Amino acid sequence: MEFSDVIKNRISVRAYNGKEVSQENIQEILEMMQLAPSAGHKQAYRVRVVTDLEEIARVGKGAGQEDRFEGATAMIVFFVVPEDAGERFGERGRDLYCVQDATLACAYAQLGAASLGVSSLWVGSFDEADMMEMCGLPGEGGGLRPIAVTLLGYTDEKVERSARKDLKDLMV
Ligand SMILES: Cc1cc2nc3c(=O)[nH]c(=O)nc-3n(C[C@H](O)[C@H](O)[C@H](O)COP(=O)(O)O)c2cc1C
Repeated sequence: MEFSDVIKNRISVRAYNGKEVSQENIQEILEMMQLAPSAGHKQAYRVRVVTDLEEIARVGKGAGQEDRFEGATAMIVFFVVPEDAGERFGERGRDLYCVQDATLACAYAQLGAASLGVSSLWVGSFDEADMMEMCGLPGEGGGLRPIAVTLLGYTDEKVERSARKDLKDLMV
């Protein structure tokens, strides 16, 4: 697939059909994710792959987005590791670079998924405390903080792209 087509094919899917995403595809998505750039090459993020449908549903419920999670068969949770970036970059690393690293990793994962014909949805709104508990990282969780989830799966629906601001309105 042409790279421009991958970008155009990546679209938020909120209606999944329950079809399983293969382990091979998940592995390939993770390997593409891993190639994302990061500040000082610190890769100040970690991920947890969840394929247990009950756990996916639990996060959906905590997020108040049950309907959107239903039928998704895999989920990647992205955590920031502020100290990985903070030890070199101080406050800017802890507050900003780790979030940018995780954000880029999540974007790469979504584009990687699109290149394989796997649909995805970025979910930013979820219950952080419940996510930590579910992942077996209660309390401070060793400094990890979950900041994003990518749902993975397939859809039977034709999803329309949401309209963008005009390019001129994105200029400052
Ligand atoms: C930081 C971030 C948080 C998001 N959180 C949610 C979310 O909680 N639920 C949801 O349905 N979509 C969420 N989205 C998806 C956006 O709504 C979506 O990307 C946007 O509407 C543009 O549509 P498109 O992805 O189809 O191009 C999030 C996207 C980003 C980047």
